[in-house]
Amino acid sequence: MGTSEDDRVSGGDRVSGEAGGRPEGRGAPAPPPVGPPVHPPPVDPPVDLPPVALTSLWTLHHRASAARRKPPLLDDPVAVELVDRCAWPLETWFGRPRSLPEQYLARRARLYDAATAEFLRAHPEETVIALGEGLETQFWRVDNGTVRWLSVDLPDMLALRRAVLPHGGRQRAVGCSATDPRWAERTGTDIDTPVLISAQGLFMYLTPAEAAALVRLCAGRFRRGVLLFDTLPGWVVRCPVRRFLTWGGTFRFPPLHATRRSACPGRVAERPIGPYTLGTGAAVRPLHLAQRWRWVRTVFMPAFVRLDVSDGR
Ligand SMILES: C[S@@+](CC[C@H](N)C(=O)[O-])C[C@H]1O[C@@H](n2cnc3c(N)ncnc32)[C@H](O)[C@@H]1O
Repeated sequence: MGTSEDDRVSGGDRVSGEAGGRPEGRGAPAPPPVGPPVHPPPVDPPVDLPPVALTSLWTLHHRASAARRKPPLLDDPVAVELVDRCAWPLETWFGRPRSLPEQYLARRARLYDAATAEFLRAHPEETVIALGEGLETQFWRVDNGTVRWLSVDLPDMLALRRAVLPHGGRQRAVGCSATDPRWAERTGTDIDTPVLISAQGLFMYLTPAEAAALVRLCAGRFRRGVLLFDTLPGWVVRCPVRRFLTWGGTFRFPPLHATRRSACPGRVAERPIGPYTLGTGAAVRPLHLAQRWRWVRTVFMPAFVRLDVSDGR
């Protein structure tokens, strides 16, 4: 399996130095299918990463745990292998994996996988752009052997990703903020090429203005793009409930910001990320039933949003 080039956008406040590399043009033949990543040696615990980047280890912790369940909530052997290989003190930082975030994150990943697979059935050789990808292992869950993949994340986070999850020949990475328009010039696609832009677990870390600007950037740059993102309801963003998400661990979540309304006020295809099983029994039955009502889902639950970016102009 070959390794890909790593583009880092240079200059600006939130980006790092250029590491070379040219995007693959659309005319270039796609490199052959790759198997799971080769397993490099573990790296030291990434204690110096900023909290917003460490959130991707929290999601990895829960995804791997969801994949270990019997029966598994998510089929993600690469995440399990990564957690085992690196043996980072995830439980010290984040506490034991909790049932609710485990279900939420597994369900969220499955929604993204399903939407990505649908896009790839229609456009098997086109590009998926994963904004804020962190240590997501989605590429290995949905790879069809021809998709081209672009990971965009903060430079330090991407350096860690590249160290522990070596990329194959159809994968590239750009180290810069998703709010920096320069990543959109590095996609190797033209304006009429269909692209899938997925921003799993990213929008809540952007301010409302940044989130709205990102939607406009995608709409301006990709005429046939589909943008997938997810948001938390306002009550989660505002209240300190997230403290419980890392109960027993040392990690504190950074502030959360953008909600679905602030990121994208128009009417868009939106699905709740649920239902959650939240255990069984009479005590949780009212919660299960309440999820049937649209207003309960809209006001109280996280959302998964699909936006044809031409709608966001
Ligand atoms: C909760 S993690 C989600 C990671 C991954 N998408 C997943 O679902 O497991 C948030 C990710 O967004 C990245 N991130 C936060 N702010 C960002 C920004 N302005 N630009 C690019 N990435 C950002 C973080 O570095 C981190 O990898």
